Amino acid sequence: MYATYLNGNTSAEEVKMGYVIATANMKGGVGKTTLTVNLATCLAKNYGKKVLVLDLDSQISATLSLMSPVEFAKRRKQRKTLRYLIDEIINPDPDAKLTIHDIIYPEVCKLVGLDILPGDIDLYDEFVVSEMLHNQSVALGGNDFETIWNRFERVLVRDILKPVLDEYDFILLDCAPGYNLMTRSALATSNFYILPAKPEPLSVVGIQLLERRIAQLKDSHEHEAKINIQILGIIFSMSSTNLLNGRYYKQVMHRVVEDFGVDKICKAQIPVDVNVAKAVDSFIPVSLLSPNSAGSKAFMQLTQELLQKL
Ligand SMILES: Nc1ncnc2c1ncn2[C@@H]1O[C@H](COP(=O)(O)OP(=O)(O)O)[C@@H](O)[C@H]1O
Ligand SMILES: [Mg+2]
Repeated sequence: MYATYLNGNTSAEEVKMGYVIATANMKGGVGKTTLTVNLATCLAKNYGKKVLVLDLDSQISATLSLMSPVEFAKRRKQRKTLRYLIDEIINPDPDAKLTIHDIIYPEVCKLVGLDILPGDIDLYDEFVVSEMLHNQSVALGGNDFETIWNRFERVLVRDILKPVLDEYDFILLDCAPGYNLMTRSALATSNFYILPAKPEPLSVVGIQLLERRIAQLKDSHEHEAKINIQILGIIFSMSSTNLLNGRYYKQVMHRVVEDFGVDKICKAQIPVDVNVAKAVDSFIPVSLLSPNSAGSKAFMQLTQELLQKL
């Protein structure tokens, strides 16, 4: 179960830990968050795994899929969100009171093994980050900005997670669409990434763009540290079974197989299921709320398939 953690390692130590898996796609609305929270739920519920969900998207969809806005507001007031931990890295306070253990919400949805580190609608101030890195670069002679930026990117999420890395079998990172600092940092920290995509031509472009970005990320860090992230699978989500769409969908699917190879595409596909969408209203993932729905069954199959791949 345990993989060796060496990604972006600057201190040359090895830490035993579970798998860190990022859910990413350049496009939004393709089912990233739904996949993350349901995979986490299935791993905890059906396989007894200890799982942490980390919400890296300031739209906080993963957080609000697992807790009510009222609960979130209460925690945010107490500063118990990811923002506090990012602040601590950008601007460490020697009197800091909260640790990651205080901020993680354990057994969310009353499910043993399922924990969340709540996200925030306001994760960090880009200007403050740039200024801090600029100052560091000036202090070092001024011509090393890229190296300093890369290092920050590489260690940000990893440093946040460090105290809990060996406490979980799985840490799932729900990334925002696009390619922001948190996503790059998540990818640099992860052993694997999963890529949900809708069976549409533009989604295929989203896959290609992300693949290219990851190759660039590996290249740009190459001189300082090796980024070992690998693809775990492309997952077709919200695929329709209706006949007309079915034929069209097969064409898109065929293209993806040609581009990426058949072994990268997961056999389990997530159908459009109103139960999946409705579950969000109850702040409980469909896999827990309606385990017999088509969507839940698909998430269960997918979880089994991904575990086999690992
Ligand atoms: N299999 C599904 N069936 C029906 N609705 C879905 C399904 N998967 C996701 N959705 C809905 O689609 C919307 C976008 O999904 P989400 O997981 O938030 O995407 P992303 O994280 O990529 O932006 C949400 O409203 C979600 O409830
Ligand atoms: Mg999302």
